[in-house]
Amino acid sequence: MRPTVVAPSLLAADHGAFAEGVRAVEAAGLGWLHVDIMDGHFVPNISFGPQVVADLRPRTKLHFDVHLMLSHPDRYVAAFAKAGAERLTVHVEAEHDVAKTLAAIKAAGLSAGVAMNPDADPRRVLPYLGDVDLVLCMSVFPGFGGQAFMPSVLDSIRFVAAERARRGADFRLEVDGGINVETGRLCREAGADTLVTGTTFFKAPDRKAFVAALTA
Ligand code: DX5
Ligand code: ZN
Repeated sequence: MRPTVVAPSLLAADHGAFAEGVRAVEAAGLGWLHVDIMDGHFVPNISFGPQVVADLRPRTKLHFDVHLMLSHPDRYVAAFAKAGAERLTVHVEAEHDVAKTLAAIKAAGLSAGVAMNPDADPRRVLPYLGDVDLVLCMSVFPGFGGQAFMPSVLDSIRFVAAERARRGADFRLEVDGGINVETGRLCREAGADTLVTGTTFFKAPDRKAFVAALTA
């Protein structure tokens, strides 16, 4: 198995004190921050926007792994690039030309990811695998933290991992939603190398120990 990246989700931090959430991720020895952007339209919840990303940028060197849960992600690529995101991931289910949006993300100098919901046929990402740095398999329906992991995602992870091996590609394979030590292990065994964790990370009594267990 390749080394696992753990990306805590800022969504599960205290929204009145995002900088403290960032410090908690750094204190756990991690390098990535998963940033969930929700528009109240693509998903039934609103989180926060590019201003939060821009204001956190000078406070940390963490890699900003930005997950756009927006109906029109193409309209916000420039704003998140300017805000200091390193990586933008967009859904196949959103209302945009996915290939064009991925190209715009790359043209802005960022890493590009493609995401799919838990009920998506994993073949939907096949047209984009030559153009992405990351594939995100959602293990919950996006919108809220703290939901239960859907084991059906394991088939999608295995499918994408097999396709990655077949092509000799090296994009990251990320999973997002309901990740804890047990579900994280199942995802890694299926081929995932990047684990988003929101609620379990921020509520962990010993975050370093949790990360160690998640990556053991
Ligand atoms: C769900 C978000 C996830 C979520 C993960 O819409 O994309 O990143 O916050 O949080 P937990 O780990 O609580 O499921
Ligand atoms: Zn996410």
